[in-house]
Amino acid sequence: MSYQTLEISTLTPHIGAEVHGVDLSKPLSNEQFSELYQAWLDWKVLVFRDQHLDREHHKAFARRFGRLHVHPMQHSYGGDPEILTVKTTQASRYTAGDGWHTDVTCDEIPPLGSMLYIKETPECGGGDTLFADMYRAYDMLSDRMKSMLEGLVAVHDGAQPYLGAYGVAPPGGTAYPKNEHPVIVTHPETGKKILYVNSGFTTRIKDLNPWESRMLLNGLFHFIESTVQLTCRVRWEPNTLTFWDNRCTQHHAVWDYYPHSRYGERVSIVGELRPAA
Ligand code: SIN
Repeated sequence: MSYQTLEISTLTPHIGAEVHGVDLSKPLSNEQFSELYQAWLDWKVLVFRDQHLDREHHKAFARRFGRLHVHPMQHSYGGDPEILTVKTTQASRYTAGDGWHTDVTCDEIPPLGSMLYIKETPECGGGDTLFADMYRAYDMLSDRMKSMLEGLVAVHDGAQPYLGAYGVAPPGGTAYPKNEHPVIVTHPETGKKILYVNSGFTTRIKDLNPWESRMLLNGLFHFIESTVQLTCRVRWEPNTLTFWDNRCTQHHAVWDYYPHSRYGERVSIVGELRPAA
């Protein structure tokens, strides 16, 4: 993987890369954009340091990849519907994303990617984000497990994190999205297979007895959270933007900095296709 217009330094040999020499507040040339797009597919998680962006810059960069997403919990934040604020202080009851998940898989078409721009980091360190490579997770399963999971469909329910974990009720008279996706999906652009269940949203596997579904999901979640070879770790500095391919990764925002604060803004891009086998 070599690029003409970008300089890349990798975080691990399979997931995560820092991109140097790009100013995201300026329009990208077509050549730069197509190389960035390729680097994003190659490395799944791209980290851009020392970016000075206002909300319009952030959204303009995201719009190069597609339409902007409105988060199902947006009613509880107010403000710009296309910006999800990620704010944790001493007074917070929870921090967004503090557990392994893929963003908003309760949607019929989950975001294809998210861009988180961190402006304030905890003064004593901490607040890193871990990312896991779900191609690699699939590849590490045994052939017998792969064939057992192939063809199964799982339920992804927004009520589990948003209501259950965060305690935020949906807007009056509505329910959070709940949708079904295959347990093994194929990335629409790379054609590679992905293990597509996450402990944030996936509540059960259809057509199994409840105990069978629980056993299988607990086993897969344990595999994901305990297999450090799947991961890279992004250590934030103020003005870092990280852009992940939400179709083939999971992430975990580590809340290890209480009582200090962390602040960022996330923009996500709506996918065009339902996750498919
Ligand atoms: C999220 O998008 O889940 C939050 C990630 C983070 O705050 O690091």
